[in-house]
Amino acid sequence: MVGTSTNELEVGKDSRYDRKAEVKAFDDTKLGVKGLLDSGIMKIPRMFHSNKLDPPETETSPSDSNLSIPIIDLQDRHVEVVDQIQSASKKWGFFQVINHGIPVGVLDEMISGIRRFHEQDADARKPFYSRDRNKKVRYLSNGTLFTDPAADWRDTIAFYVYPDPPSSEEIPKVCRDIVIEYSKKVRALGFTIFELFSEALGLNPSYLNEMDSAEGQFILGHYYPTCPEPELTMGTSKHSDIDFMTILLQDQIGGLQILHQNQWVDVPPVHGSLVVNIGDLLQLMTNGQFSSVYHRVLSRHVGPRISIASFFVNISSQGKSKVIGPIKELLSEENPPIYREATIKDVMAHYIEKGLDGNSSLEPFKM
Ligand code: OGA
Ligand code: NI
Repeated sequence: MVGTSTNELEVGKDSRYDRKAEVKAFDDTKLGVKGLLDSGIMKIPRMFHSNKLDPPETETSPSDSNLSIPIIDLQDRHVEVVDQIQSASKKWGFFQVINHGIPVGVLDEMISGIRRFHEQDADARKPFYSRDRNKKVRYLSNGTLFTDPAADWRDTIAFYVYPDPPSSEEIPKVCRDIVIEYSKKVRALGFTIFELFSEALGLNPSYLNEMDSAEGQFILGHYYPTCPEPELTMGTSKHSDIDFMTILLQDQIGGLQILHQNQWVDVPPVHGSLVVNIGDLLQLMTNGQFSSVYHRVLSRHVGPRISIASFFVNISSQGKSKVIGPIKELLSEENPPIYREATIKDVMAHYIEKGLDGNSSLEPFKM
């Protein structure tokens, strides 16, 4: 068409682009990103295009390979473990643990089980696909698909395991036994780590557990399919976690990064280890002593990547009505509260409403 500039064509194309319709059509397939890939696409749909090529100027990338998050051996001398946890929780908000007591065979089988679920036939996956937050087991792509500025290249199966676990029949057969076993073992490790956190804060070891920090647990079994155009989209967009603490199991593919001193630092896969990070609620309760830090997952040509995140927070309606605030024992004249008290529900509502937009969910709760 002579006389029509490329610009006009672009603008014309933009005004006709109906993002909402594209997102809905994708969600209606109930087969996630894996389904898109199975259909043979070579280019990723526009709804996945993110502005990651245009990060805030202060964030540097690629990451400085000299920096690495701490690896803590839980079998070290107790005082040393507490010391390392204190320093890692303050400086990094992230660390890996080894010799944590969960057999490596259990970890490997959990990764395999989650992979089996996502690689089942369409007919087996589809019935689990749901956006109903009341369901204890559900399969979905992008938890906040309809509010996020860009969709991520990732599918997830979610299990709400405590305090009110699903019946075993509700769990897909291909991963049933291992999900039950793994969730119990991670819960026990969660109690141990909350004891160590309590000590690291100078509190009685049982303090955080008595505050019911480990009372609730939900698990996200992520599947990051190979991505044909990884430079255009993210596996998981920049975010912080909304819980008290997260324990993450990742396979050997890599791609997880944390924002540390404005640099994206890789969290390298260490076989047999678990990654632990502080969530927003613990940052609030420790009055900012412990840091909930931003992290993201890059999409890659290689894959699939499997990771399993266990979030410690009680999201039952009763659990969410709990009021949390900076722990009184940690406050003093020199250390006045920087956050106000709020219900878990209020903090979460704000988190869900804002989506994975890269902003702290604690912003409105600052004094
Ligand atoms: C999360 C998360 C990281 C990963 O689920 O909140 O950050 O490696 N996951 O999948
Ligand atoms: Ni996270």
